[in-house]
Amino acid sequence: MNYRVPRTRKEIFETLIKGLQRLEYRGYDSAGVAIDGHNNEVKERHIQLVKKRGNVKALDEELYKQDSMDLKVEFETHFGIAHTRWATHGVPNAVNSHPQRSDKGNEFVVIHNGIITNYKDLRKFLESKGYEFESETDTETIAKLIKYVFDNRETEDITFSTLVERVIQQLEGAFALVFKSIQYPGEAVATRRGSPLLIGVRSKYKLSTEQIPILYRTRNFENVKNICKTRMKRLDSSTCLHAVGDKAVEFFFASDASAIIEHTNRVIFLEDDDIAAVADGKLSIHRVKRLASDDPSRAIQTLQMELQQIMKGNFSAFMQKEIFEQPESVFNTMRGRVNFETNTVLLGGLKDHLKEIRRCRRLIVIGCGTSYHAAVATRQVLEELTELPVMVELASDFLDRNTPVFRDDVCFFISQSGETADTLLALRYCKDRRALTVGVTNTVGSSISRETDCGVHINAGPEIGVASTKAYTSQFISLVMFGLMMSEDRISLQNRRREIICGLRSLPGLIKEVLSLDEKIHDLALELYTQRSLLVMGRGYNYATCLEGALKIKEITYMHSEGILAGELKHGPLALIDKQMPVIMVIMKDPCFAKCQNALQQVTARQGRPIILCCRDDTESSKFAYKTIELPHTVDCLQGILSVIPLQLLSFHLAVLRGYDVDFPRNLAKSVTVE
Ligand code: G6P
Repeated sequence: MNYRVPRTRKEIFETLIKGLQRLEYRGYDSAGVAIDGHNNEVKERHIQLVKKRGNVKALDEELYKQDSMDLKVEFETHFGIAHTRWATHGVPNAVNSHPQRSDKGNEFVVIHNGIITNYKDLRKFLESKGYEFESETDTETIAKLIKYVFDNRETEDITFSTLVERVIQQLEGAFALVFKSIQYPGEAVATRRGSPLLIGVRSKYKLSTEQIPILYRTRNFENVKNICKTRMKRLDSSTCLHAVGDKAVEFFFASDASAIIEHTNRVIFLEDDDIAAVADGKLSIHRVKRLASDDPSRAIQTLQMELQQIMKGNFSAFMQKEIFEQPESVFNTMRGRVNFETNTVLLGGLKDHLKEIRRCRRLIVIGCGTSYHAAVATRQVLEELTELPVMVELASDFLDRNTPVFRDDVCFFISQSGETADTLLALRYCKDRRALTVGVTNTVGSSISRETDCGVHINAGPEIGVASTKAYTSQFISLVMFGLMMSEDRISLQNRRREIICGLRSLPGLIKEVLSLDEKIHDLALELYTQRSLLVMGRGYNYATCLEGALKIKEITYMHSEGILAGELKHGPLALIDKQMPVIMVIMKDPCFAKCQNALQQVTARQGRPIILCCRDDTESSKFAYKTIELPHTVDCLQGILSVIPLQLLSFHLAVLRGYDVDFPRNLAKSVTVE
């Protein structure tokens, strides 16, 4: 939204579309925008909605087809909204995409991330009042509800933010919402609960404040049928953010900083139930109720993110770029934390809680998808170094089971985005039971990093490809570093610690060696890409590699793939083995080597033709291999970092050869903010 910064409609479109493209990794089955349809001279207010099934590019093309839009028209104040969707309620099509509207005249329009769990009741109520619904979405109830509140307002001069405040009191579930209305031209209101939302601020001029004080309502009301009067502390210049001297300022609302980073790195993170309103070039933030724990203001923060960090560079896909970034991302995870001279590790975000963690009864490590696999991969080394029982849990299952959690448990939440709803709910569940909570995330300012008691940022840099790669290896290393920090004073573990720290030091170089196998892996993909299924088998430290490799293959190649624990082979999966079934076996020089040889014999005895990922000096396994990919050797508990990379590369090449969009696999989203 711009204020006193004249922009043409074309520029407004371009800003919105570019922002959406940077967020496309979150969802991309349909997209839409709402902008002012009139020009400055025409009095009649009008909001133009353009929505399209498909990706953002399809929407962009559609915008330029609409000849009713004069692209050269200039606006001094303009507020446009745009959204890219990952369907939860209703199939992906134009009607179900956002913005959703209150009525055919587009009086109120809204975009929404999250899920409204009580939408059926709200919809029933609104239908009983004569509102007609056009979509199958939960979001449409919000658009209708705000119109209902507006139509039933008790005073003519009700503000836009008051309407929104009344609406969110009726909503259950998770949301980040941004509203636009023809009743409030040039104004914007945004709010959140459970889903992330931030505001970027750009101005060449000095800003009135760096800390925006929160305003509170003085009275509350109970339900939508019973709207009573509420009063708010008076808005004045000291409670608003604006450019000093009535100068030009622009505000950007987004669910993720990557959408706006090219415009500004100055942002305000909203908290749950904050209502942010921009009117007349001024931003104010309100809350309905004051909570004892509330911070009484929101600060403008400066982000360190660079645009080129989220650009593809010379790679054909973000995923490929991110795979090849691993020598640096892994180094960045350790930078300033591992001291290779003194063999010590210091994780600044945990040091104040170390004593408490050492006293705990057990560690519970919780995540989803790839983040869960990072927990599986490090469980054994964590048990060894912390000498504590370690449970690893899929967040959804952990919640389904109402798992007993105690106040002397320490619960880790592993999440690249820091926003995954299942993991976030598991965090709140553990907090309610007074356990100490630790976040391991890649996103500064994310919900998980803010809501946990302490944590580790994995510092892998922005990850855009939906299939997670560099975040996995950095999560892996972060958890190993935690184990090392915990075991610093254990005399019996000193040799082991030295061995692992020495292994960490050589990892970036060894990852480069693994990446140099890319061509060989591409050739392997050429052989495999027409197959329907691919099994990946291993055990011990490398079982997680099999799960993660199979997940990568499923996610982006749409082939069936299964990660099999080699110890379980004889209990079922062996029935799948024959001459045709492609099998990848991960056999590394570690304590499970001999047992893996047994599995290899079982496979070859059934005419299986295993492709073996093994260490360079392993002449034993290669004798039985149909093909081998030979990897450099490292410490057993770190080998999984090297063994997963060939599978990341293989899935990438398979997907390209099968003609799929590697970064945006069908039906998936990078950050799943719904349960
Ligand atoms: C989604 C993504 C996965 C990811 C998982 C957990 O399902 O498609 O790639 O591993 O969420 O995400 P998080 O951000 O919590 O690590």
